[in-house]
Amino acid sequence: MLSRIASRAASTHAPRGLSAILQKNPDDVVITFAKRTPVGRARKGQLKDVSVDEMLHALFKASLQETKIDPAKIDDICVGTCHPPSPLYASRAAALAAGIPSHVPISTVNRLCSSGLMAIRNVAHSIKAGETTLGLAAGVESMSLNPRPTPEVSASVAENPEAHDCLQPMGWTSEMVAETYKVSRQKQDEYALISHTRANESIAKGIFKDEIIPISIRGNIFSTDDTVRPGVTMESLSGLKSVFPNWGEASTTAGNASGVGDGAALCILTTRANAEQEGMDIVAKWVGSAIVGVEPKYMGIAPVYAIPKLLSQVGLTKEDVDLYEINEAFASQFAYCVEELGIPIEKINPNGGSIAVTHPLGMTGVRQVVTGLAELKRKDQKLLVTSMCIGSGMGAAGIFVNEARR
Ligand SMILES: *[C@@H]1O[C@H](CO)[C@@H](O)[C@H](O)[C@H]1NC(C)=O
Ligand SMILES: *[C@@H]1O[C@H](CO)[C@@H](O)[C@H](O)[C@H]1NC(C)=O
Repeated sequence: MLSRIASRAASTHAPRGLSAILQKNPDDVVITFAKRTPVGRARKGQLKDVSVDEMLHALFKASLQETKIDPAKIDDICVGTCHPPSPLYASRAAALAAGIPSHVPISTVNRLCSSGLMAIRNVAHSIKAGETTLGLAAGVESMSLNPRPTPEVSASVAENPEAHDCLQPMGWTSEMVAETYKVSRQKQDEYALISHTRANESIAKGIFKDEIIPISIRGNIFSTDDTVRPGVTMESLSGLKSVFPNWGEASTTAGNASGVGDGAALCILTTRANAEQEGMDIVAKWVGSAIVGVEPKYMGIAPVYAIPKLLSQVGLTKEDVDLYEINEAFASQFAYCVEELGIPIEKINPNGGSIAVTHPLGMTGVRQVVTGLAELKRKDQKLLVTSMCIGSGMGAAGIFVNEARR
């Protein structure tokens, strides 16, 4: 399967090889701003009553204020979001209320857990195509107010076994991966603990201050995450009961599945020529992305295909990459992906991932880019690859070059 996917990664005009990727050309797509809101624990945390439009509105306002870009010069906006009803109306209203003039269009994109990365990709592609000079890519989700709706399809469609599988709850796919790929129980809890420990440390050190833009909602300022639990140990993890007792190994718990949270994130993209002309700081260069499909039952293994496909497309090896931000949907699939890809864990999610930080679906694809770029800047390193598995059986990956100076 890997060779089939990799051999189809045909790309004739994308940059290939390290020196081409690091080159600076006027028509490069660059990121001039990459920030996120703090995240809130779903149903209990600081953003539990904040709707998607309110969150977006606050993020747009804060970002415009900080960057001082002229909103009239924005050519297009794309928002990745999965579950709110009427996502386009909510996004359009939020942009207008934030002072973005009505001549600036907006769209939404939903490819589940990759939606935020797809928003970045959509804006980047339209810049590459010459249709957009300056664009905003956002990701947002309120898991509190808009939890996953149960997907419904007609009985005749669901008769197809893969169609049936693609509708199942994500916890079921976690158990399928744990069972089929024999990821040891001990190992899964170890990976979960790494995420909790790293995120706890990063919070304590104030690491996330670099990437968070405080937002103001109904007179309250939100500037720190309330999701990371400080006291997680191997003992407390192994004491948790399974949340999906009816499936497979029944090994997924609240301690080793991604946390449930609310939040939003945003990137501003433009051409290098325009960024220079307008005096905008360049944070990163967008290089490319890759999408794959896998058997829906094993949704969680998709980064094992998405990352090599992307690397082969851009002519890099996994060793060329300094930092990986890979979504931790579940400890089971994350552990499998890390070991199957053969990437040292030191290079992956150094500040923890969704298991500890939580996973607001539409936000995560942008958050991982924001978090990864801030980390590259701190370490003065170059290449970020981000990836995630996607409900219904897909995976995505994206690659970026850090250009921010320490
Ligand atoms: C979390 O961080 C705090 C502050 O550094 C530390 O005292 C505590 O031991 C950490 N907890 C765990 C479980 O690692
Ligand atoms: C989650 O934690 C439980 C309890 O420690 C463990 O038995 C299981 O293997 C872990 N499962 C996953 C999917 O990480």
